[in-house]
Amino acid sequence: MKPIQIAIDGPAGAGKSTVAKRLAKKLKYCYIDTGAMYRALTLKAIKKKHDLNSNECIKTLLSNTEITIKNIRSENHIYLDNKDVTYEIRQPEISNNVSNIAKIPEVRDYMLTLQRQMANCGKVVMEGRDIGTVVLPEADIKFFLTASLEARAHRRFLELEKKGYSVDIDSIAQEIAIRDKIDTKRQSAPLLKADDAIEIDTSNYDIDEAVEVLITEIKKRL
Ligand code: C5P
Repeated sequence: MKPIQIAIDGPAGAGKSTVAKRLAKKLKYCYIDTGAMYRALTLKAIKKKHDLNSNECIKTLLSNTEITIKNIRSENHIYLDNKDVTYEIRQPEISNNVSNIAKIPEVRDYMLTLQRQMANCGKVVMEGRDIGTVVLPEADIKFFLTASLEARAHRRFLELEKKGYSVDIDSIAQEIAIRDKIDTKRQSAPLLKADDAIEIDTSNYDIDEAVEVLITEIKKRL
């Protein structure tokens, strides 16, 4: 039997990661956070002081980079060249630069191969920007999560504050808007709702409510 694949896409801060993680745990599916992979490569480029605007530099970097994801107690741990960078990749500096790395077609090709291999792990909830459109176009169920910019910035603010970063909500909103623009406008695999994706606005839901909405939709279809 074909493994069941659930694709979750949407802009930054729409609640994808938290919802996808909870959903995978409830369904006992494997969870894959594809944004973490782009973040890991961005971390390496920054650490190696590569010119982030030079596609050539980033392409060279790719040729000697290994990115893997392991599930440890239902949490994705991301390894960059065998080092666990799960927490490092969440720094604001990475968020501010990741979209410029993710728009490079060769970077996307590299990630696409890895992501499709990972999706073969069995029943999977995979989350990102192009999962329903490019990575798993045959996914059994596709969701596109959205939320108002205000709600998304507020969530990110609380998340970063909890981690001890000193941040202001206006700059977060600005960073999210810039990132969405780059992700949506890029030539290669832009952020886009798949025609057959179910769109859910999470602005007025807490995490449990959002997960319940998704589960209701899944039950109707499986
Ligand atoms: O989901 P997260 O905010 O961690 O994603 C970070 C960035 O990685 C996105 O803003 C986007 O530029 C890129 N990304 C992507 N395609 C995916 C997942 C993430 O381009 N499937």
